[in-house]
Amino acid sequence: MCGIVGAVAQRDVSPILLEGLKRLEYRGYDSAGLAILNENKKLQRIRVQGKVNELRREHQASPLKGGTGIAHTRWATHGKPNLINAHPHICRDQVALVHNGIIENHEELRAKQTAAGFQFSSETDTEVAVNAVYEALQTSPDLLKAVFATIKQLEGAYALGVINTEEPERLVAARKGSPLVIGIGIGEYFIASDVFALLPVTQKFIFLEDGDVADIKRDKLVIYDANQEIVERPINVSELNADAADKAGYRHYMMKEIFSQPNAIAESLENRIDDGKVVASEFGQNAESIFKQVKAVKIIACGTSYHAGLIAATWLEEIAQIPCHVEIASEYLYRKSVVAEDTLFVFISQSGETADTLAALQLSKEKKSLSTLAICNVAESSLTREADLVYLTHAGPEIGVASTKAFTTQLVGLFLLVVSIARHNGLSLEEENVFVKELESLPGRVNQILQYKDEIETMAKDFSDKHHALFLGRGVFLPVAMEGALKLKEISYIHAEAYAAGELKHGPLALVDDDMPVVAVAPNNNLLDKLKSNLREVQARGGKLYLFADKSSQVESSEGVYVIKINGVYDFMAPILYTIPLQLLAYYVAVIKGADIDQPRNLAKCVTVE
Ligand code: G6P
Repeated sequence: MCGIVGAVAQRDVSPILLEGLKRLEYRGYDSAGLAILNENKKLQRIRVQGKVNELRREHQASPLKGGTGIAHTRWATHGKPNLINAHPHICRDQVALVHNGIIENHEELRAKQTAAGFQFSSETDTEVAVNAVYEALQTSPDLLKAVFATIKQLEGAYALGVINTEEPERLVAARKGSPLVIGIGIGEYFIASDVFALLPVTQKFIFLEDGDVADIKRDKLVIYDANQEIVERPINVSELNADAADKAGYRHYMMKEIFSQPNAIAESLENRIDDGKVVASEFGQNAESIFKQVKAVKIIACGTSYHAGLIAATWLEEIAQIPCHVEIASEYLYRKSVVAEDTLFVFISQSGETADTLAALQLSKEKKSLSTLAICNVAESSLTREADLVYLTHAGPEIGVASTKAFTTQLVGLFLLVVSIARHNGLSLEEENVFVKELESLPGRVNQILQYKDEIETMAKDFSDKHHALFLGRGVFLPVAMEGALKLKEISYIHAEAYAAGELKHGPLALVDDDMPVVAVAPNNNLLDKLKSNLREVQARGGKLYLFADKSSQVESSEGVYVIKINGVYDFMAPILYTIPLQLLAYYVAVIKGADIDQPRNLAKCVTVE
């Protein structure tokens, strides 16, 4: 989604802004731009439809220089992804503004402003905001007051950065519903959508809260809350270093992230297990007493995080015997739902900024529930600040749009949660010890599965000319299949659907022919025989099967059946293990197809609009 960077400094800020935009690329975008106030107090702007590298090239050809500037990567919501809609937007050569979010009442404001004589040069919802700031400046020539007057008119979500030629060393930023951080330098300040953008220039950050407005000058920062009262917000020192976001020799971030899973899982488990037991206080100080009371769990998430929720629900019902319902956040928001007594709400999100998941958390607070828990990869995200209990997955920054290590570490966290709850519902200490051993074995087992990469790369060749694929799974492996299908469609643009294997004959079998590869995970569990019958149904229709099976599954490669046997011995960790080959399959298919793996078309890493 859109990314914002801004700076007020004594030095030329354009390289900082360009580097910041580069580091925000992973969020997903389709155009980019920057505006700088030069030493003659003139606004200069460069925009491109396309990538930050093109913006860099244009900047090299005709550099902009100045100590105050704002920059933006745009992910189109209102208006096409073209040049005129790219940010920053400028009003009458005086005010420049960048925006992330959606201004819901933009049509009404546009009509009013048109009647007042404003002309629009774009189709965006954003342009009404820059006009509103300009209009307010005509009555009171103070950028802060003008931003206050503007946000009063705006409905919806926004993170804004605004500069004004009349106050060349000032940048005003505002946040409601969309993330924004302030970076603190020595005699200089920065703003950005996330900390990665600013790591080359600072480690010190302030996370603005909803409703905050920051008045930023070179040597002074004042933050106002939603009531326009001056507030102190804590300064956080980030432990990330600027290299946390590099590819470490891999061709793509996604590959780096797939291969970092053994390490990410090990990090995720650190301090969370003690003496064969799960440390429940890792979910929050009063987590243990809340877990004792849990009678039902409702999990809410989007995308890959939703799939993690589906797997956790199976675990929870089987291990803890607690009913669990999983919902897609955008669905939960708009239906009348019933909350069972003593329900623990669990929100899963890599970024902690997904608008639908955040809105669902707000909604859950209006209902009578036991507590809310966020499972998240980003400390100090909106989600972790809003939930009662927080579990950080500690996967490290995930840059590839298609989620990999965030997913597997979410599953680790969810398994710890299941054990922590089950302990109060009949799970014995011996059983817990066994589960802990399984968890501890994970990094090594994931590492072993990664060694099948060459075989999977060979298998991937069969998919490169295909337009569709079916993924089959049963039980807890249905969400694994769903995640495999999502990975394939996200990065290779092959249409892929997952089905419960038992549902095959109720529809999708009609699609099966030699042009429809069918992928299935076949661990050696109680459903294996049933799955094998489903697979025979595919074979009988000339469908080509691609199986990931346990060495003991007794399924062999034959005409039309391609089996990769992995050491995926069946236990509760198996859904995590069987996810890995599906990630690799999607990756290699996308590489063969030459797709933009880390930034797939039309997708965003951090979906900050509903
Ligand atoms: C986007 C990303 C997905 C992610 C989903 C939910 O669609 O591309 O990879 O699963 O958002 O994001 P979250 O940060 O809430 O897990």
